[in-house]
Amino acid sequence: MATGEQIKALIKAHFENSSDRFATTALQVAAHEARQGHDTLAEQIRDIVQKSKPTSPNVSVIQFKREISDLIVCNNSENRLTDLIVPDPVKNRLKRILTEFKQQEKLRKFGLKNRRKILITGPPGTGKTLTASVLAGELHLPLMVVMMDKLLTKFMGETSARLRQIFDTIQDNMGVYLFDEFDTIGADRAYDNDVGEMRRVLNSFLMFIEQDNSSSIIIAATNNVRMLDQALFRRFDDVLQYERPTDTDIEHLIKNRVSSFIPASGLPQNLIIEAKGLSHAEIVQACDDALKDAVLQDKISISPDFLIHSVQEKKNAYDRVWGIDRG
Ligand SMILES: Nc1ncnc2c1ncn2[C@@H]1O[C@H](COP(=O)(O)OP(=O)(O)OP(=O)(O)O)[C@@H](O)[C@H]1O
Ligand SMILES: [Mg+2]
Repeated sequence: MATGEQIKALIKAHFENSSDRFATTALQVAAHEARQGHDTLAEQIRDIVQKSKPTSPNVSVIQFKREISDLIVCNNSENRLTDLIVPDPVKNRLKRILTEFKQQEKLRKFGLKNRRKILITGPPGTGKTLTASVLAGELHLPLMVVMMDKLLTKFMGETSARLRQIFDTIQDNMGVYLFDEFDTIGADRAYDNDVGEMRRVLNSFLMFIEQDNSSSIIIAATNNVRMLDQALFRRFDDVLQYERPTDTDIEHLIKNRVSSFIPASGLPQNLIIEAKGLSHAEIVQACDDALKDAVLQDKISISPDFLIHSVQEKKNAYDRVWGIDRG
């Protein structure tokens, strides 16, 4: 049975005509029922809400406990799968996550659960954060980004307790939760103090994620492969490994970004070779530089030379930082 507070909140939301608040509270009732072991009722409530709620969540109605309110940033996402350029096998695995989420009720009837705990690894700027945003956008769920660095620095000593509150929130408010830069915990021993705080936090995280029985999607993103030990793999339903873009990806990425500003003569022949080795994010930045140049000069298409120049500029900056000599 819903708590008195939840019933009051439902009645209030009804008379104030706030369907967002009504939906959020109804999902809290579902979470409450699930915790009491009334799984079927919880599922039925979630199903009704999912089918009737407005397409985009109104994130302003979601309220977090005061202790963790500055540790989670909540956003609406407009991103779609077509925004993300990844090789087909990766895209198919993302589609499978979406399909299983949408058909979780059907799976549950056969004692099966949709995959919703996802680990994404890969170099900086290859779309890990964007993926969380895409899943949120496609499923019309709020995107909740957990501020890992704040969690660790601000609450050294009580991090595990905060982490528990975050997992309570995951249970109570359905969303896509992104633990970004997940490697901040556990991986870097330099951060660890002499009482092994980091190790404890990592162990707590692993325990909470294992116990989590919510309907939310949980994504941990890291660009630190040192994190990838067996213990970690086991806790996730899927592990996606992102790479720098392939030649085909580079072409798609540039065409997508520059789109109506592509010159009549087409894109330069050597563009893909020049862009090889850059991350998706750097290529997008180079495209944006060429677009800005065109817009500011009132041109209807980008200058091919300027695009090549922008790509080279990114590459030179990258090489200088990493001391790479392409000789
Ligand atoms: N695979 C991709 N497809 C399309 N655009 C991408 C992709 N990867 C990155 N981008 C572009 O680069 C921006 C930054 O990417 P994102 O923040 O997702 O990278 P990341 O992998 O999370 O990097 P970091 O490890 O630094 O957190 C995106 O908002 C998008 O514009
Ligand atoms: Mg990121």
